[in-house]
Amino acid sequence: MEWNVEGIGESAQTLVLPLFEEVAKAPNKATSGLGRSTAAQVREAVASDDFDGKSGKSLTLWNSGQKVILAGMGLPENLAEKDARDAGAKLLASLSKQHGKSLTVRFTTGWRPGQMIAFAEGMMLRDYKFDKYQQKDDDDDDDDSPYSVTFQASDRYLRALHDGCARAGAIAVGVHRARDLANEPANVLYPMEYAKRARAWAKGKDNVELTVIEFAELKKLGMDGLVNVGKGSEHKPCMVIFELNPDARDGPCPMIVGKGITFDTGGISIKPSGGMDEMKFDMHGSATVFGLMEALHGIGHQQPVIGISCMAENSLSSTAYRPGDVINTYSGKTVEVLNTDAEGRLVLADGLWKAGEFDPEFIIDLATLTGAIVVALGHEATGLWSNDTALLERIRKAAESVDELAWPMPLLPAFEKQVKDSKIADVKNLGDRYGGANSAAAFLKQFVPERGEGDDAEQYPWAHLDIAGTAWGTSTNDMVAHGATGVHVRTLTHLLTEQ
Ligand code: BES
Ligand code: MN
Ligand code: ZN
Repeated sequence: MEWNVEGIGESAQTLVLPLFEEVAKAPNKATSGLGRSTAAQVREAVASDDFDGKSGKSLTLWNSGQKVILAGMGLPENLAEKDARDAGAKLLASLSKQHGKSLTVRFTTGWRPGQMIAFAEGMMLRDYKFDKYQQKDDDDDDDDSPYSVTFQASDRYLRALHDGCARAGAIAVGVHRARDLANEPANVLYPMEYAKRARAWAKGKDNVELTVIEFAELKKLGMDGLVNVGKGSEHKPCMVIFELNPDARDGPCPMIVGKGITFDTGGISIKPSGGMDEMKFDMHGSATVFGLMEALHGIGHQQPVIGISCMAENSLSSTAYRPGDVINTYSGKTVEVLNTDAEGRLVLADGLWKAGEFDPEFIIDLATLTGAIVVALGHEATGLWSNDTALLERIRKAAESVDELAWPMPLLPAFEKQVKDSKIADVKNLGDRYGGANSAAAFLKQFVPERGEGDDAEQYPWAHLDIAGTAWGTSTNDMVAHGATGVHVRTLTHLLTEQ
């Protein structure tokens, strides 16, 4: 979407008028730039009972080619940012080719800047398609040109609206990057292809440093979690490290670690075939890491942030790791592999330990880690665990404020006990039958690095986000028609840029 912000004046062929319920008479400004008869139509429609401004109600007027969409917003005091964002997304989703690609969205009586920005943000986020693999018909006017949207408001709001739209637009680019990566099929996007795209993105940006640790190097370094999960595929694993603003680093730095399983067959502990195609999304943690970097770069973020993506394809072959194997990890801890489908925690073990080399302020990992979290929370919230109550609360709040809910889950010693119970290795990659999302989190905790040594050693603040239910498959998310959601690019951007 291309957009700009200006005072109320002319209108494009399609005018969107989001109006509040209490507006019984169209404000004069609302009809600015419309022909006399169109303006009269708008006034009559707004005054009539046919348009009551109730939330979700809309009416489209047509007059000699000029289209006007009256969109009901309910009462202004009830329009939270979430509602405005949802309304913007729904409006965009409702557009058809008859509306054309040029729109004017005009905010009049009752609108506050925060609400306007959220409405615009919803439109930007919902303006997404993943249709690169579909043939376009020349005469099937499937117009691929971008929307061109002019947001109009009173002069006193223009600065705030412009700055808010610029920020929302840059963040939406990051969200859409994450969605693009996660929507790519696994035959196209395998670990080194992710690395290639990361390199291409970082190229020419002087405040971005990119490191790719390839398979041979992973083996040398002893990153055997990644090596073992990825070695059964012809597409070998890698670790991709994004450093944003490395020159500004002069103290502890936020670290974000993502699970990047480009396809999860389950390995030798193979998954049932129903729905297995969805396991192309099993790299959404790494997609969020990439999208976050792009969003932060796009808004001109000045502080250092580091992202680590743990990329592997969990495949089966004669070179794949097996149930019963005892493997090493980068931390030095050994793991008894009881199920090769519990692979995410193995690649994250190496990513978390690697994060410890960078003097972290805190470490947040994102992973489509367990089916159990989908059972617990459905598609409505991400599971959130942390060894630090302050960090947990910060993340919970950031997630809530951008409407990407993250729900606190228990990091109980009893679950740690389960994964420490191996008879032949330091830990095992499987807990008991129930509470699987919690034992997975407890497993990760075994690999959170420590600050200091000996008795003074203390784990870095760490939080784990299990996005298995929120990375795709939601029906209540107005920003997303189908496929990957780009979840938590906005949460983490908010968290890292809050004052
Ligand atoms: N990628 C899956 C988790 C998953 C399942 C995400 C369904 C989204 C939807 C993960 O690697 C996995 O297979 N987890 C196992 C763990 C089990 C073997 C302990 C699971 O959840 O069944
Ligand atoms: Mn798995
Ligand atoms: Zn997986």
